Amino acid sequence: MALNLSRPVHQLDPLSPDLHEDAVKMREHGPIVPIALPGGVPMWGVAGDEAGRNLLKDNVRFTKDPGHWRALNEGEIPEDWPMISIAAPSGHSVVNTDGPDHRKLRRPLAQALTARRVEALTPLVTSLVERLVGEMEKAADEAEDGVIDFREKFAWPLPMGVIGYLLGVDEADHDELGRLYSALFDDTVSEGRSAELSLHAWLDAHVAKLEREPGEDLVSAMLALPEEDRLPREDLVVTLYVVLAAGHETTTHLLLNAVRALSARPEQLRLLISGEVPWENAVEETMRWDSPTANFFTRFATEDVDGADIHPAAAGVKIAKGDPVFVSYISMGRDPERFGPTAGEFDIRREDAAHTNFGYGAHFCIGAPLARLEAGIALKTIFARWPELSVVGDVPRSPTVVVNSHNHLNVRLK
Ligand code: HEM
Repeated sequence: MALNLSRPVHQLDPLSPDLHEDAVKMREHGPIVPIALPGGVPMWGVAGDEAGRNLLKDNVRFTKDPGHWRALNEGEIPEDWPMISIAAPSGHSVVNTDGPDHRKLRRPLAQALTARRVEALTPLVTSLVERLVGEMEKAADEAEDGVIDFREKFAWPLPMGVIGYLLGVDEADHDELGRLYSALFDDTVSEGRSAELSLHAWLDAHVAKLEREPGEDLVSAMLALPEEDRLPREDLVVTLYVVLAAGHETTTHLLLNAVRALSARPEQLRLLISGEVPWENAVEETMRWDSPTANFFTRFATEDVDGADIHPAAAGVKIAKGDPVFVSYISMGRDPERFGPTAGEFDIRREDAAHTNFGYGAHFCIGAPLARLEAGIALKTIFARWPELSVVGDVPRSPTVVVNSHNHLNVRLK
């Protein structure tokens, strides 16, 4: 089977009511499936956990450099395709490089976000959580029906506040950045590369400001590195663009998905509140069961690859040099081959919840310790205060196949 979509095997739809059901259908076709993305763009989707790990560790035959994408090079992908900036990020950064080049770009970020450095951010995260909890309470008291949007009041401002602090971004600029980033993750809005380029321009001006007036932030620290370790200016800007996107959007989705899962399962919530089960379990189980990233992070084949080389059940799949391949994290997290017959159930007591949803191999998420810290403190504080927090009304999905989230989550706190 080649990547020929005259007979698409599976179609991903940003308006689909349930990406998990889509993932089940995808897995029925095997671990590696030819998919039509929104707009009819063909890509291989990796739906199984083992196949996903095998793909992610092979940075030689599967590169992140979109310069290898045959259809893009041959002009078959329209420049105004809504997913273009996600599938083929421009510039030179950790998300589109491999090998020594990738390691050089990754090192300063990885050093800034080690588990020890992130642990030291506990007081900052705690005080931001407490401030937002106070603001949520006030907004709920003022609302006629006591209902507030948890995304607007907490799930978005918390990660944005933390990453904004790390990158030296003033709070007054958060909303503007949020607007630009949200256009990137909406597959129904056709802005092409314009939101990406506007963000690059914004961050270029931000770097210039910090060059003139350095602060205590990560950007100022990266600008002060010895010349041999310092990233060229345009690479620094693109790197910041990636870190800012990765640092707030995904953690927002994790918080939304965790609040939905836990508020619907009071018996599991009780175990967490009483301390019988640690809060980390709730964070990891949400990551596995309801992955914040859905279908994401394209790789490009540098040579022809037989599917059987990646997973025995993918025999017959012929990935051609220049084909794009994405990993379906949302599918891998509930793969019954990996998690057994209860893969589809949310259970904080699960013995082995070790998932792949922060990635795997050389591109493993740099921000995983930070996301875990934020979510752990946030969930513990929120549910200790409002154990009866409930979701109100329907919760439509965000119109995207890239992330697994909601544009709004209305809740009643008590
Ligand atoms: C729940 C929250 C998060 C999720 C689900 C998540 C998920 C991921 C995944 C799946 C990857 C692997 C991409 C690939 O293999 O191509 C990744 C990479 C990355 N993440 Fe996260 N992430 C989260 C939070 C964060 C945070 C808070 C930051 C920054 C502070 C961050 C920064 C990055 C960066 C820079 C990369 C690229 C690493 C590389 O390519 O070498 N992430 N993330």
